[in-house]
Amino acid sequence: MSELMQPLVWHNTKLRMLDQTQLPHREVWLELAGYRDVAGAIRDMRVRGAPAIGVAAAYGMALGAVASRAGSIADFKREMADISKTLAGTRPTARNLFAALERMQAVAERADNMAVAARSLVDEAIAIHEEQKAADYRLADIGASLIKPDSTILTHCNTGPLATAGGGTALGVIIRAYEQGKVKGVIATETRPLFQGARLTAWELKQAGIPFKLITDSMAGYVMSKGLISAVIVGADRIAANGDTANKIGTYTLSVLAQESGLPFYVAAPVSTIDDSIATGNEIVIEERSLDEVTCIGEARVAVDGVEAMNPAFDITPAKYITAIITEQGIKTS
Ligand code: MRU
Repeated sequence: MSELMQPLVWHNTKLRMLDQTQLPHREVWLELAGYRDVAGAIRDMRVRGAPAIGVAAAYGMALGAVASRAGSIADFKREMADISKTLAGTRPTARNLFAALERMQAVAERADNMAVAARSLVDEAIAIHEEQKAADYRLADIGASLIKPDSTILTHCNTGPLATAGGGTALGVIIRAYEQGKVKGVIATETRPLFQGARLTAWELKQAGIPFKLITDSMAGYVMSKGLISAVIVGADRIAANGDTANKIGTYTLSVLAQESGLPFYVAAPVSTIDDSIATGNEIVIEERSLDEVTCIGEARVAVDGVEAMNPAFDITPAKYITAIITEQGIKTS
């Protein structure tokens, strides 16, 4: 599989992070030495995409452990619980964030020796990262088996290596199917309000050398109705036990349009995105972000002053619109 830019690198007990808010025009690497920096970077979406948020948070806990000056193992555990709470408070929807923090906290809870406690948290963060990469490559192989020859795939938001700190989910499937000669092109939605499609997916597709066209989100119905699409593949931030899926705002619309157009609609996500503790999508907390993201494009204000707006970052696609959920453990159809 072609090696695209990895956004997170653990180096000498520091976390190097590619600042995704600066892409595609500038490649800026941040060097983060403390968990508060990591929490801020997640909140500001310098790292984003559910699996990559999870990996970053795990490294955040590792940074906290390395910097700890706790005098006893009990103090260390309390400190780790506080750090976990800070990191958990950054973005509410991505299940992977909480799955990673739960793993890191379990390691902190098991610690009984200050001399090795920090090392065990660093090792666990590295293991979470490595497992993410392995899951992505397996998921890409499984997902590519669903793609028919000569396909044009529509995808939404950004789900490549930038979003997972591995090989990507939906975009990983597309890249693998392209390498197998089955994808003739990709249609990428720009993904308002923060343009993850126009800025990040377009950047990754260009690096991978895959032919693609960028459309505004509102053009999706048109391209489907004109027979220009073979399948839709998206990622997920949280999947409820019944298969209802939270993903970037606009995903639900695409799923209904795909159904209306008779197109398969696939969700690709690692099992760490599945939340079996909730029965349906109704229980998923949807992040509400700053209204400036809607009324402005970057620094430039578009809407009239004083306008009221809404900015839910995700929506819920009911399981009935999802043809199959692709994970590293197999394909699930409802
Ligand atoms: O707000 P973002 O950019 O973090 O949203 C990302 C998405 O919605 C992705 O589709 C999802 O996290 C899957 S990433 C492999």
